[in-house]
Amino acid sequence: MSADRVISVRGLSLWYGAFRALDRVDLAVVPGEILSMIGPSGCGKSTLLRCFNRMNDQPYVRTEGDLEVAGYDIMAPKTDVLALRRDVGMVFQRPNPLPLSIRDNVLFGVRLHASRTPKSEQEGLMQDALEQVLLWDQVKDRLHDDAETLSLEARQKLCIARLLPLKPKVLLMDEPCSALDPNGIGAVEELMGSLRGKYTQVVVTHNMQQARRISDRCVFMLMGELVELGATVDVFTRPKDERTARYIEGRYG
Ligand SMILES: Nc1ncnc2c1ncn2[C@@H]1O[C@H](COP(=O)(O)OP(=O)(O)OP(=O)(O)O)[C@@H](O)[C@H]1O
Ligand SMILES: [Mg+2]
Repeated sequence: MSADRVISVRGLSLWYGAFRALDRVDLAVVPGEILSMIGPSGCGKSTLLRCFNRMNDQPYVRTEGDLEVAGYDIMAPKTDVLALRRDVGMVFQRPNPLPLSIRDNVLFGVRLHASRTPKSEQEGLMQDALEQVLLWDQVKDRLHDDAETLSLEARQKLCIARLLPLKPKVLLMDEPCSALDPNGIGAVEELMGSLRGKYTQVVVTHNMQQARRISDRCVFMLMGELVELGATVDVFTRPKDERTARYIEGRYG
């Protein structure tokens, strides 16, 4: 894979049974960028995002095309899915911390994937991850508290923090702010901004203003098709495709 792309999608189609959810998608994601994916409900945003760490691996799902993510050939049956998911982390709509302490949530992945990491190193990894998600100051005196005692926004930050000790290359986020109030949305957007450049972030959002605020480039999808990809400012101010223009004007979706 060339150095200028961390995700490379070529002619990717996906069928759930007989239903085609992705239609010959082509896309290259640049290392360190924030790429947003927008489009009406059911257009295939989550489906495409899930392909990037092989979460559509079901007997009734069929795919065609090429997909490389962080150096993994995603479609190859021999691909080490556990290693792939270490390098390509996923964050969901609802924060889903494990029923463990704050500390154990952050270290869970390290213990699972890199069980030989010495205890002394684990503490540093934990602190670093919590600092990166701008949560350390808030939780440093209560690391043994149950993660469930945190606010929704802090739980979502924790879900991002627990991916970081594994040194992922790509963070996939499927509407990571949709369960949060305006303050929480602001805090998580600030966090994404502070992670720009360190990780590649692909963010699905229903909130077009959020896409404008946070992303370097933006993808517009419609009925399984990638209609437009460009610098976010261009997609929103001078879209090339009539369908993009109609969507951002709020004519549908
Ligand atoms: N596991 C599945 N089995 C069958 N069909 C599915 C499955 N997951 C998604 N679909 C269908 O594939 C299409 C794309 O769904 P997807 O969830 O990717 O859309 P989306 O753009 O993420 O929508 P939303 O904005 O509502 O989250 C939809 O028609 C959906 O009903
Ligand atoms: Mg979705």
